[in-house]
Amino acid sequence: MKSNSTQDVTLNPETLPAHVAIIMDGNGRWAKKKMMNRIKGHEQGSQIVRSVVTACRELEIGTLTLYAFSTENWARPKHEVKALMMLLKKFIVSERENLLKNNIRLNIIGQKHKLPLDVQKEVDATMELTKDNNKMLLNLALSYGSREEITTAVKQIVEKIESKNLDSRDITQDLISDHLYTKAMPDPDLIIRTGGEYRLSNFLLWQAAYSEIYICDTLWPDFTKDEFIKILKNYQERDRRFGKVACSTSNDG
Ligand code: IPE
Ligand code: IPE
Ligand code: MG
Repeated sequence: MKSNSTQDVTLNPETLPAHVAIIMDGNGRWAKKKMMNRIKGHEQGSQIVRSVVTACRELEIGTLTLYAFSTENWARPKHEVKALMMLLKKFIVSERENLLKNNIRLNIIGQKHKLPLDVQKEVDATMELTKDNNKMLLNLALSYGSREEITTAVKQIVEKIESKNLDSRDITQDLISDHLYTKAMPDPDLIIRTGGEYRLSNFLLWQAAYSEIYICDTLWPDFTKDEFIKILKNYQERDRRFGKVACSTSNDG
């Protein structure tokens, strides 16, 4: 990722998103274009992650969620899954110091228990080491799928009702949110998808109710800080109405 050449773009620090979520797609196509193995694309993609984390930290964006591995990605060829897990472990270990130094807390959303034990061990160690960090939350979505997340939440709620720890009349939207992996986090204000596909691929379906969505053709390994800043600028120019009437027209009587 290029360091910066963002002179032409000025962001308003007051209206930056509190939570940015990214569907980091296009590693395989990037490698294919370069006549390389898909794994090379994943390797290059993991390099980009650090620069986006750094950019968010510099901009004081409170929460960054990165979709790194979906529940559906387990169905990829065994050797690709293995390589992805290996890269993930490498990333978790190599970023430890950087996260500590920059006061960033690591959290996992998804089925952490499904990850290989050696990966879980490193993930747990980094989560424990960074648990008191409070300048930024880095959520890695690993073995994450929204439908799994919602299904698990429903089961937990039903169990509470059956054990008389909850009355069904107390089920609210907030209660449901509190049973998701993203409990206590703001919903994503902005969801970016690289790689040009117009779909959410089972990512944050509940939480994305009013997210602004930005899709770019850039393949994840080519994503730059410049492009990220331009996307944030585009976000700041949008009118988020949440179903209401635009601020500029609300006094028209
Ligand atoms: C995203 O890149 C990384 C993961 C889903 C793990 P892809 O591997 O999906 O890349 P494309 O979409 O095939 O180019
Ligand atoms: C979404 O990308 C998942 C991640 C980026 C981790 P996919 O490549 O798995 O999504 P589809 O298959 O194009 O929908
Ligand atoms: Mg893909």
